[in-house]
Amino acid sequence: MNIRGDFPILQRTSRGKPLVYLDNGATTQKPQCVIDAIDDYYRLRNANVHRAAHELAEEATALMEAARTKGQHFVNATYREEIIFTRGTTEGINLVAQILSQRIQPGQDIVISQLEHHSNIVPWQLLAQRTGANILAIDIDESGDLDLQDAANKITSNTAVLAITHISNGLGTINPVAQLVQQAKAVGALTLVDGAQAVLHCAIDVQALDCDFYVFSGHKMFAPTGIGILYGRLALLNELPPWQGGGEMIDQVSIESSTYQNAPFRFEAGTPNIAGAVGLGAAFDYLSELPMQTLIDDEATLVARALSGLKQIPGVRIVGEPQQRASVVSFLMDGGHPNDVGTLLDQQGIALRTGHHCNMPLMSRLGIPGTVRASFSLYNDETDVDTLLAGVEKAATFL
Ligand code: ALA
Repeated sequence: MNIRGDFPILQRTSRGKPLVYLDNGATTQKPQCVIDAIDDYYRLRNANVHRAAHELAEEATALMEAARTKGQHFVNATYREEIIFTRGTTEGINLVAQILSQRIQPGQDIVISQLEHHSNIVPWQLLAQRTGANILAIDIDESGDLDLQDAANKITSNTAVLAITHISNGLGTINPVAQLVQQAKAVGALTLVDGAQAVLHCAIDVQALDCDFYVFSGHKMFAPTGIGILYGRLALLNELPPWQGGGEMIDQVSIESSTYQNAPFRFEAGTPNIAGAVGLGAAFDYLSELPMQTLIDDEATLVARALSGLKQIPGVRIVGEPQQRASVVSFLMDGGHPNDVGTLLDQQGIALRTGHHCNMPLMSRLGIPGTVRASFSLYNDETDVDTLLAGVEKAATFL
């Protein structure tokens, strides 16, 4: 099935060549239905939500709350109140790290991994600085898979939190998150899964994963930037303190003190990104009508084609050969800094990301400054792969 036609931007050129968009790990393009939903919202329905007694506000509120319900179904959460709107994955992780402050004892461990994006490292470092906790990172092997023996050694009765990425944005490694969550739960730790790179590349089921928190961004699944979802287990959310104070999150306010709403509003102070939520709702609708497993399988075939083609180009080295991979192929070229390779490919209309991909600890572990990263989505096709391979061959002649 070809869904390219739903994405207007894919018809444009870049540097005078047909656009080959392979930077989906950074952000995905938007289908017409999402663009239309945002346009419709601002042209016809714009109002603040949950507040006013007029028709526009009622319609805006209904759209936003419908998006919450769609988010609940998308991740298979038990309750719609478990779906909190955020600005994105980064804000979701910061929110959780903030509200856990009182739960962490000095000397306890927060276990992450060597594969994490900076947004699943730095918020935990800030939490560790506030609480006196330690950060431990599960190591990887030479293929870019997590070292599960090291995980077993690091997840102990001293672990307060396990925060782990579902799919690595640097190497594409699909982590055995359900297994790791079980190990963490067995020692009484809380668990957070960073789903930023997973949302379009595998089915998400928070009940099957059994994690306490799952976070992702709308913009990596065809929705706008500036909107994302934090799933949290309801009983836990309602035990935890708010993180930001303001309108919407309160029950009663006096000059001396306040009481708070339960989730989700407890964690949604201030006017939210309503248009973003409407766009996210449209993206959920769009995805619900697609044969997702077929598209995910087709994408895996493209990734395999890209990998095998790149391996045949002299001077190309693939970075990371994980047992299970989704969407991402990272590579290096002899004699070319990743940034130079990116520039040569950009001149051919091929958009991808170069550098450390917000994975500085991973790059240090691999002993490289960065990579060239092609990241695929459900609308990419064989022409994109073949143009990439031809582009890399051409780039090689300049290096
Ligand atoms: N986290 C995004 C990426 O991997 C921005 O490119």
